[in-house]
Parts: sequence; C-alpha cells; structure tokens
Amino acid sequence: MKLAQLIAETGEQEAVIQVLCHLLGADRTTVFLLRDIGDETVKQVKKYIDKYKKGTPLAYLLGYTYFYNRKFLVNKNVLVPRFDTEVLIELAEKKIIADSVMDNLSRPYKILDLCCGSGIIAISLGYLTEWLNKKNPQDQYVITATDISEGALSVAQANAEMHNVDLRLVRSDLFTNLVGQFDLIVCNPPYVPTYEIGLEDKRVLKEPQIALNGGIDGLYYYRRILATARDYLRPDGLLMFEVGYDQAEAVQAIAESNGFEHVKVYKDLANHDRVVTMEL
Ligand SMILES: C[S@@+](CC[C@H](N)C(=O)[O-])C[C@H]1O[C@@H](n2cnc3c(N)ncnc32)[C@H](O)[C@@H]1O
Repeated sequence: MKLAQLIAETGEQEAVIQVLCHLLGADRTTVFLLRDIGDETVKQVKKYIDKYKKGTPLAYLLGYTYFYNRKFLVNKNVLVPRFDTEVLIELAEKKIIADSVMDNLSRPYKILDLCCGSGIIAISLGYLTEWLNKKNPQDQYVITATDISEGALSVAQANAEMHNVDLRLVRSDLFTNLVGQFDLIVCNPPYVPTYEIGLEDKRVLKEPQIALNGGIDGLYYYRRILATARDYLRPDGLLMFEVGYDQAEAVQAIAESNGFEHVKVYKDLANHDRVVTMEL
C-alpha cells in the first residue's frame, strides 16, 4: 500500500508517519520515500492508529517521544512532554551560563527540578552542566529532581540512565523531603484548572491527573510552592515556573505577595505568556 493511501484510509497523517518510523526503525525521509508498505506493516500500523483514535496518546503507545531534539521514555505515569516547556529550558540554560561566567564557583552549583515527571527538564539541563563541567573541571553542578509519584521517578531514572546524566532523584511532596538552598529552581507544576482537563483534547484524560490538575483555578501548586520556596532558594538564586497561557499575572501576584522581587514574564513562540521568573 502507498503511504498516501494509508494516511487517507486512517485519516491520520502525523501519527501514521511516527508509527511507521517506529516499526521500521527508519527516519521520516525514508518513510516518505517508501514505494510500498507491506501488508503486515499496514496491519500493525492500523492497530496502533486504532488505539490512538480511541484516545491513547501516541507517546504511550510507542513508549517514547522526542523533546528538545532528544528521545525520552514515557509511560502512563508521566505527562507527555509538551513543546511549551522548551521556553523554560532555554531560560534556565541562559541563567546557568550567565552564572558560570560570572561566578568563580567555589561550591557546588545546585539546580532543582521540582515536579520532574519524566525528567525532561533536569536531563536537558544536565547536558549543559556536563558540557560546562568539561570546560571547567573544577566547577561542580548538582541536579536534584523530585516528584511525588514513584512511577514518575522510575521513568526519570530510566531517562537519566539512557542519557547518561547524573541526577539526584528524591521522592518528595514539593519541598517536604528537601534540605538546603538552590541556585536555580525550575518547576512545571500541574496547572490545568480541574474543569478544563480534557476539554480540548480527550487524550489528556489518559495522562496522570496528578500531573495536570492544578485545582479549581489551576493555581493551587503555585500558591503552595511560593509559600515556602524562599527557604530553598539562595539569596542570589532564580526560581522559574512554567505557567498556563492566562496565569502569568496571577502567579506574579502570588510571588509578590510572598516577598519575591524582579518578577518577569516570558512568552512562548505562540506569543502566550509561558514562564514566570522571580528572585528574592
Ligand atoms: C506538569 S507535570 C510536569 C512534568 C515534567 N516536569 C514536564 O515538564 O514534563 C507535573 C508533575 O508534578 C508531579 N506532582 C504532582 N503533585 C506533586 C507534589 N505534591 N509534589 C511533587 N510533585 C508533584 C506530578 O507527578 C507530575 O509529574
């Protein structure tokens, strides 16, 4: 069968291409250039697409997805990484690079990924810190990644091993099991208002609700985290949150009412408010 025909029959283009890449161990270009797809492969693709159409995210069916140009393992215990989170990582990278230039690090530089899920943020930053560490072997970076979900931490562990990034993984209800202060805290907490979950895309209902549900107004975790975060942030440190497209103003107000200063809001590529950063 021709690729175009398989796409037409299933009514799914992107999913069909991704499944074919997966089944054939091929890249996208190779899949586009296929002259004929064998009957057995067509049957298998259709099985995947059936489950996908019934509402299972493709990443769960494949067992992995790509984020920030890297492959990450995922399963039903973790949120499927969203493109939106790349902005947070880019800003965190800038902060780490700026600090590495400014500071003559005579102590470990400590990064915390709070609510780490599959570990995409911590591991992406780990690539940078390991590169910086090669340039300046005397500098030492410690990345801690925490989540309340045992299942999520297992996925983060598997991803850290796959990427050969050293992470300190801690099971913790927000800061409860943490001690010490961090130079950089990054956090993509659950922030979807309860009533909005699954409204736009029913596939979201298959993702862990604990990774999505931010309470009635979506702000539950920002309030809880900001009530105690100052104890865990170094005086010259930076705390950065991913936020929902309409939450930046509210998060800014919560931050300021908890004594944070220099609150800044950054937009994503779609021009939505996406990251809020703050200092003490
Ligand atoms: C929006 S997901 C973010 C996952 C990952 N950082 C990402 O960007 O894809 C939020 C994560 O917060 C975790 N979580 C929920 N409640 C928590 C709590 N009280 N303490 C720590 N983690 C929590 C969930 O298990 C989930 O993995």
